[in-house]
Amino acid sequence: KGCKLVGCGSAVPTLEISNDELAKIVDTSDEWISLRTGIRKRRLLSGGENLTGLAVEAAGKALRMAKVEPDDVDLILMCTSTPDDLFGSAPQISKQLGCRTNPLAYDITAACSGFMLGLISAACHIRGGGFHNVLVIGADAVSRYVDWTDRGTCILFGDAAGAVLIQSCNSEEDGLFGFDLHSDGDGQRHLNAAIKENEANSAVDTNGCVLDFPPRQSSYSCIQMNGKEVFRFAVRSVPPSIESALEKAGLSISNIDWLLLHQANQRIIDAVASRLEVPSERVISNLANYGNTNAASIPLALDEAVQSGKVKAGQTIAASGFGAGLTWGSAIFRW
Ligand code: ACO
Repeated sequence: KGCKLVGCGSAVPTLEISNDELAKIVDTSDEWISLRTGIRKRRLLSGGENLTGLAVEAAGKALRMAKVEPDDVDLILMCTSTPDDLFGSAPQISKQLGCRTNPLAYDITAACSGFMLGLISAACHIRGGGFHNVLVIGADAVSRYVDWTDRGTCILFGDAAGAVLIQSCNSEEDGLFGFDLHSDGDGQRHLNAAIKENEANSAVDTNGCVLDFPPRQSSYSCIQMNGKEVFRFAVRSVPPSIESALEKAGLSISNIDWLLLHQANQRIIDAVASRLEVPSERVISNLANYGNTNAASIPLALDEAVQSGKVKAGQTIAASGFGAGLTWGSAIFRW
């Protein structure tokens, strides 16, 4: 059985923050951020906005492009590491989209690789599980876990959502040609937002006796990152992953119309493209306007490239995500 991408959409918050505005809260400059990362501005959730709302907006656009009704969706995969509800937000997205048939809906947590994991999971559900219309959403609000006093990390991230609709088809129409996925827990020390176990304010019972088992109040720490190690990991791991996905697809890099990488840093994108000998005109990049939007970055950049007419129907894309976990993975697909 085949599967193909038939719709895409994206959504970003209204509040836009430029590098100059960030330079008012940490010791940095537009020049430093632009030169080291390629980022000029980013969008951040504010006011009454939430991540579920962004995800619903992106998913709704993908459904309209695909001309598929919410009731015909039978699986929703919400790829996020920063959900509105720690217990999972995909069922809420289903409800807000108006899917009256209650499709299976669950979250996938794999940081910046989340969307790639979602895409491959969707294909496996279609090929092995009998699903027909699968919404894959990549959405994150990393601003929730950024230390706004740390100039090494707060300049990098933005909030956004992107979505694609994957549909079952016959094998001749199959549009997902090959993939390659990895993880390495050893690298977690280079990039994480780990749990903090704090003792609760009250460690005494109602009689004032000290409890044997003081209750805990947990929270997550802000993002801890060794930027140089993450940079090295990405440049070292992504090219072989794309080559492996290409090999499984029986293709070579010259068969690829577009290289679409997780939008973390323009220097990472340039280094990977250079190693793969892909000219810059065939590389999709929009991180100047949005920063690193974690699991949203690949579907957001795809949607912009499709809407602008850059990516055309029938073209082949090599996409790769990489990030915390560590996790990384690539897929070769037809738009
Ligand atoms: N403004 C000005 N100066 C800064 C800033 C800033 N925002 N941040 C760091 N500096 C300073 C440092 O303090 C250091 O100063 P020093 O030389 O006096 O000690 C100097 O600039 C160099 O710092 P480095 O950390 O060595 O800078 P580097 O060139 O490595 O760039 C960066 C840092 C941009 C974070 C880079 O390492 C990077 O992009 N790494 C990849 C990070 C990434 O992509 N993370 C997310 C991917 S995974 C995911 O998406 C969850």
